Amino acid sequence: MYKLLMGTVFSVALTGSVMAAEQVEVLHWWTSGGEAAALNVLKGNLEKEGVAWQDMPVAGGGGEQAMTVLRARVTSGNPPTAVQMLGFDITDWAEQGALADLNDLAAKEGWDKVVPEALQKFSKYDGKWVAAPVNVHSTNWVWANKKIFDELGIAEPTSWDELIAALDKIKAAGKVAVAHGGQPWQDATIFDAVVMSTGGPDFYKKALVDLDPEALGSDTMKTAFERMAQLRTYVDDNFSGRDWNLASAMVIEGKAGVQFMGDWAKGEFLKAGQKPGVDFSCFRFPGTQGTVTFNSDQFAMFSVGEDKQAAQVKLAAAIAEPGFQSAFNVVKGSVPARTDVPDTDFDDCGKKGMKDLAEASASGKLFGSMAHGHAAPAAVKQAVYDVVTAAFNGQVDPAAATKQLVEAVAAAQ
Ligand code: BGC
Repeated sequence: MYKLLMGTVFSVALTGSVMAAEQVEVLHWWTSGGEAAALNVLKGNLEKEGVAWQDMPVAGGGGEQAMTVLRARVTSGNPPTAVQMLGFDITDWAEQGALADLNDLAAKEGWDKVVPEALQKFSKYDGKWVAAPVNVHSTNWVWANKKIFDELGIAEPTSWDELIAALDKIKAAGKVAVAHGGQPWQDATIFDAVVMSTGGPDFYKKALVDLDPEALGSDTMKTAFERMAQLRTYVDDNFSGRDWNLASAMVIEGKAGVQFMGDWAKGEFLKAGQKPGVDFSCFRFPGTQGTVTFNSDQFAMFSVGEDKQAAQVKLAAAIAEPGFQSAFNVVKGSVPARTDVPDTDFDDCGKKGMKDLAEASASGKLFGSMAHGHAAPAAVKQAVYDVVTAAFNGQVDPAAATKQLVEAVAAAQ
């Protein structure tokens, strides 16, 4: 009996250790309902392949907190297998030699041919694939409560003036016009769209991508700050510090008219059982039609011990697989990171997202999002956050904010 028992214990322990060999530890900030649902698609696919998933979630939209935790992990010599990461952060880690080389897999699977150039810029460093792109999000969207719009007879606004008229109507009807969470990255997400709408694509590029001091300090930028201040008058009293998904919930529940947010917001509407065109609508931030400010979640693969590499490659392969790209992005609100995935399974917002992306890319109107790390490195992004948040909260007036922006961006480079 004793022998029999020991045998069982031994074989359980053995199974445990065999399974542990095929394991990935993944650091990410996908903690909202919609985000978690999307991540489950990846977890499920890997588990089917016998790879166990060790979850390392670090809450905080935009990923700032996750990046802080990551630095601590790498400093202590114990990086996770893979880390959700945005744009220039990937380049930074690659520069430090911390990332793995995925070239064998990328060559075998033909990634060069199917991943758009704009994404490859970040997935590759020095000719090496270092990250597997999961999706393409974009920040210049409006998520609207359709019932409120219908009841108040509001058409989808296509210009700044129409937007203001719509917000006035919603406010006059006793609703919160703009659902917003006062966190720097959320303020900056709106700023992406407002700068694009105010100055157009050439201005956006000059100011936020090329960091041209003249554009940063221009009257157009001052107008953008004035518009931010104007939008501030449409949020509710409790906006400060609110998480983005709780702001989405205000629109979902009919307490607020619109949210200006990246298309991860759609994941929340879907999770709540809502349908585009029935319960909510999605349209481009007024004045930004035809342009896309994008960010792409990629899983940066860290240099890990040989015993962990097979599982890491399986994870990267699972991410790039076309069926996964469709299934995941349908739930997440984003669109595929490869150009050969059909839009068949996507809803109307997803189809529009894919079409907008292809068109913007073809016409040279696709730009990296400043708010989400695709326009400039982290130090500059942080400097922009600081000025934008101070301006949004009325701590500096638009003229002073414009001046501060020039100085802060210069100091951060
Ligand atoms: C990421 C999204 C995420 C959002 C909110 C963005 O930076 O790209 O995947 O859903 O932050 O957490």
